[in-house]
Amino acid sequence: MTTTLEKLEILPLSPTIGAEIRGVDLSQPLDDRTVSAIKVAWHDHIVLLFRDQDIDTEQQIAFAEHFGDVGTRSRPAERRPEGADYNASIMLVSNIKKDGEYIGSLPDGEMWFHHDMCYDRAPHKGTFLYAMELPSTGGNTLFANMYAAYEVLSDETKERIKGQRALQIYDFATREVVDISGDIAKYKHEIQPVAITHPVTGKKALYVNPLITARIEDWPEDESRALLDELFTFGENPDIIYEHEWREGDLIMWDNWCSCHARTDFPASERRMLRRCTVKGQPLYE
Ligand code: OGA
Ligand code: MN
Repeated sequence: MTTTLEKLEILPLSPTIGAEIRGVDLSQPLDDRTVSAIKVAWHDHIVLLFRDQDIDTEQQIAFAEHFGDVGTRSRPAERRPEGADYNASIMLVSNIKKDGEYIGSLPDGEMWFHHDMCYDRAPHKGTFLYAMELPSTGGNTLFANMYAAYEVLSDETKERIKGQRALQIYDFATREVVDISGDIAKYKHEIQPVAITHPVTGKKALYVNPLITARIEDWPEDESRALLDELFTFGENPDIIYEHEWREGDLIMWDNWCSCHARTDFPASERRMLRRCTVKGQPLYE
């Protein structure tokens, strides 16, 4: 049955970020008015949760296509773990092993706060993550509202970061930033504004994170480090964070331009698998 706008409910998940959308069956076609309402809710709440969904890969991609062109993976061929099942639009986030090899990416444990693909020239706008198998405890995903992270900075700090740029660099790790003392050419990297203006909402959002941001460009090393440490304190501000405890059948879509996310630890002995796709974005330079 097609979802109609009349059935749609929007319930905030926290005071500053996240909303649950009820009354939508993502395995079915959505009418235009429903899609428009979801787009508005996405820009209002940054993170949207749809519970109790039963969707296959094609249905997940069909849903994502309402919000942009579905992206393909940037991981080089020799680092693709999914083998014969490889679908260029899908990434499995999983610690499950088959024949001794991980079937997916980002397998184990805690992950530091990060914006997906901020090391790319045109960072993908949205990530769509669907929970298929979960550990009995942990593996929660935290989402931080980066408009709010910018807003709470002092006027002085806002002035200091105005027009500043940062090096974003990534090597597929989950708890360490790339060591940039050597040659960085082999790593994916890009220089991005420290604060971006969201292309749709026009609002300013802080665009640095502890996993991928390595330095403020053109600043002495110690000053760059001190400023980044100050900016990274957003990750300890509970007022701007929503922590999601996954249930199987949850689909969460988030906006990578104005939020970042982290993952809590979970037992390595338990299986966790989520299916992920993204929609493409655009450069975020001023
Ligand atoms: C991701 C990601 C977090 C998680 O898929 O980009 O960061 O909870 N996942 O697995
Ligand atoms: Mn991520």
